[in-house]
Amino acid sequence: MNPRYDIQSAPTKLGVLIPGMGAVATTFIAGVYAILKNQAKPVGSLTQMGTIRLGKRTEHRSPMIKDFVPLATLDGLVFGGWDIFSDNLYQAATIAGVLQQETLDSIRNELENITPMPAVFDKTFVRNLDGNHIKRGNDKWTLANQLRDDIRHFKEQHGLDQAVMIWCGSTEVYINQSEAHLTLERFETGLKENDASISPSMIYTWAALKEGVPYANGAPNLAVDIPALQELAKIEGVPIAGKDFKTGQTLMKTIIAPGLKSRMLGISGWYSTNILGNRDGEVLDDPGSFKTKEVSKLSVLDTILQPHLNPDLYGDLYHKVRIDYYPPRGDNKEGWDNIDIFGWLEYPMQIKINFLCRDSILAAPIVLDLALFLNLAQRAKMSGIQEWLSFYFKSPMVTEGLYPEHDLFIQLKKLKNTLRYMMGEELITHLGLEYYEN
Ligand SMILES: NC(=O)c1ccc[n+]([C@@H]2O[C@H](COP(=O)([O-])OP(=O)(O)OC[C@H]3O[C@@H](n4cnc5c(N)ncnc54)[C@H](O)[C@@H]3O)[C@@H](O)[C@H]2O)c1
Repeated sequence: MNPRYDIQSAPTKLGVLIPGMGAVATTFIAGVYAILKNQAKPVGSLTQMGTIRLGKRTEHRSPMIKDFVPLATLDGLVFGGWDIFSDNLYQAATIAGVLQQETLDSIRNELENITPMPAVFDKTFVRNLDGNHIKRGNDKWTLANQLRDDIRHFKEQHGLDQAVMIWCGSTEVYINQSEAHLTLERFETGLKENDASISPSMIYTWAALKEGVPYANGAPNLAVDIPALQELAKIEGVPIAGKDFKTGQTLMKTIIAPGLKSRMLGISGWYSTNILGNRDGEVLDDPGSFKTKEVSKLSVLDTILQPHLNPDLYGDLYHKVRIDYYPPRGDNKEGWDNIDIFGWLEYPMQIKINFLCRDSILAAPIVLDLALFLNLAQRAKMSGIQEWLSFYFKSPMVTEGLYPEHDLFIQLKKLKNTLRYMMGEELITHLGLEYYEN
């Protein structure tokens, strides 16, 4: 079939720029190198391991996604980024302590070759961190333009036509939308006037979009989801996505909650608590940063369970989320969920989930998929919010007037149908009646 979009072929090289080269970023990059050396498989990555059914079930057509849509390949990825610490990626990955030293040693040269560029940083937005690898400039406008220079220089240095940016920096404190966020004009004036409500993550986003680089926000703080930057994405014709990688406990929630709801089982309470000992945990120990995360985590159940449509089942649900910083665990987060449910005649039951997860191991394949899919979207000339990438986020971005879709399985269908649509294949409704007619 003819593709519905005129999709440019995949680039041989794709730049992946990452503000925040901590646990997630280093696990992702080191992982790609380890995979390229055939030391491991890209488990968790839909672009690398997923298949997609095409046409009727009787046709038996289920190619790999990476063979169906033109994606950049792992050996063409070129990594760069920024951090407030100047450690090269071998050092940073060692400090993050996610991957075994043996793995890191086998790709030491590749990792040592990547050193973060000095960051745009403002301690009022991340109160628990102090770094010394930071750009200087009189105002935010100057800093933003330094980032644009970095992007151009990175592309020239590596001979790249195309790049994407994925924010893997620390969670910034919770802020509400303000005047400077409303239009591009006010935002750019705000940059020049050092408006206090413009955070570093917004400055990176502005720089990326101005350079025509698609942007995804892996953290829960406001960044690309303000109207000013969405306006810029539309003007520049650049795809954007966000926010907050869906891993760990929230991933579990969006797997379990749709199942309970589909059987019309009630829920009276959902208590979630986590212990986490990495730098992310340390940042989230600050109430400002935790509030940003909490809002992102709490929104999930409401939109899946739709209490306004199902008041008897979910109208009185008590939802509580806690995160406690507990250094001995490092990146190996432990989450507990206690779910109070009720069934036939409202008889109560309980579900306990104890998830001993590895946060960055779950997040790394998301970074990979987002990099490849955002680049695909750009080559298909799709711009603005890419709702079909909701699958990867705790707080999916949607256009004004729509509520976000949190159900993981609906999100997956949306993603795969978007790929089918792009390539001119029939959408799959799962109706299936045609197999029984005649
Ligand atoms: N790991 C997961 O499962 C997961 C899930 C959802 C969201 N996230 C988010 O992803 C982000 C990264 O998580 P992580 O575990 O890698 O944290 P991390 O603390 O290991 O890494 C974050 C890095 O960002 C750097 N940084 C902070 N502000 C910066 C700035 N302005 N410019 C450049 N660098 C900056 C820090 O120095 C640090 O190295 C966090 O915001 C986290 O909340 C992670």
